[in-house]
Amino acid sequence: MEKRIISTQVREEDIKIEKSLRPQTLEDYIGQQKAKENLKIYIEAAKGRGESLDHVLFYGPPGLGKTTLAGIIANEMGTHIKITSGPAIGRPGEMAAILSNLQEGDVLFVDEIHRLNRQVEEVLYPAMEDYVIDVMIGKGATARSIRLDLPKFTLVGATTRAGLLSAPLRDRFGVVHHLEFYTVEELQTILVHSAATLGVEIEREGAFELARRSRGTPRLANRLLKRVRDFAEVRYDGRITKEVASFALDLLEVDKMGLDQNDRNILKIMIEKFSGGPVGLDTLAAAIGEDPGTIEDVYEPYLVKNGFINRTPKGRVVTESAYGHFGLEPRIR
Ligand SMILES: Nc1ncnc2c1ncn2[C@@H]1O[C@H](COP(=O)(O)OP(=O)(O)O)[C@@H](O)[C@H]1O
Ligand SMILES: [Mg+2]
Repeated sequence: MEKRIISTQVREEDIKIEKSLRPQTLEDYIGQQKAKENLKIYIEAAKGRGESLDHVLFYGPPGLGKTTLAGIIANEMGTHIKITSGPAIGRPGEMAAILSNLQEGDVLFVDEIHRLNRQVEEVLYPAMEDYVIDVMIGKGATARSIRLDLPKFTLVGATTRAGLLSAPLRDRFGVVHHLEFYTVEELQTILVHSAATLGVEIEREGAFELARRSRGTPRLANRLLKRVRDFAEVRYDGRITKEVASFALDLLEVDKMGLDQNDRNILKIMIEKFSGGPVGLDTLAAAIGEDPGTIEDVYEPYLVKNGFINRTPKGRVVTESAYGHFGLEPRIR
């Protein structure tokens, strides 16, 4: 399933383009109105008091702008950002080293923060609460722990689901924001901006067509833009019209609802193998040959949000719209 064009996880091809397309200020950051307004207030207040910003947690599906917001926070605070991730930090000492190298007011961005191991996480508790760390010096009987002061920093954590975080860690974030899928109009605006930055000619209807097939996800919108641009240059005069966008997306097998083959595969397996459900996550995952966590974090949120799947206490069920999407009659329940 790795090859899917509409995978929302970062891929090699995204890295360069994302860097140039990432908004740098809150003002340029489209959508996520609630998170934006709140952050604006907190940032202004912290700056006014000359203090560091409270620790912030962003959660939501991949590609919605968590990393981007972390960068914006550092920018708006006029400080530096240090970027790391849960799986990258294996030992408590590594976390201690990162923390003690921060400067006053810096942002420490920890991506996939739910994947920090327990001992590393425990270094964060006093660091977040009191800006101190306890380090062990010496060995064996003479070992003792000393307390070191840290600069007042801001931890920005990102995770696909807040529920994956341990309670003690979650409780230490003063600000918690859930990022939402973007509306088609918001994505259209993002696409028009991105096209301008990349020097691509795009008509508003072309942007609309791309937007509505982007699964509510800016990362995907930008990736589709890049693919369709190549297509428009090779086959047409380079301009992305509605027709060009639509034709290119059909070739990429992204349908009108933004579903790709893998999404359709999930729905079809639920309909054909499990009579539409209810089916448990693990059973479904085994039938598809995909990891349950990936289904839950990456595929399912969009299918749930758009009313193709419902989560029930007994398991996942497909909805009438899912049957309708394939031109099938719903099973009578
Ligand atoms: N609100 C936004 N406005 C404009 N572009 C955005 C916005 N959010 C995300 N993007 C674009 O989508 C890309 C992916 O966002 P990113 O912050 O890496 O997502 P996440 O960290 O949640 O996976 C960014 O590089 C940027 O180009
Ligand atoms: Mg990210």
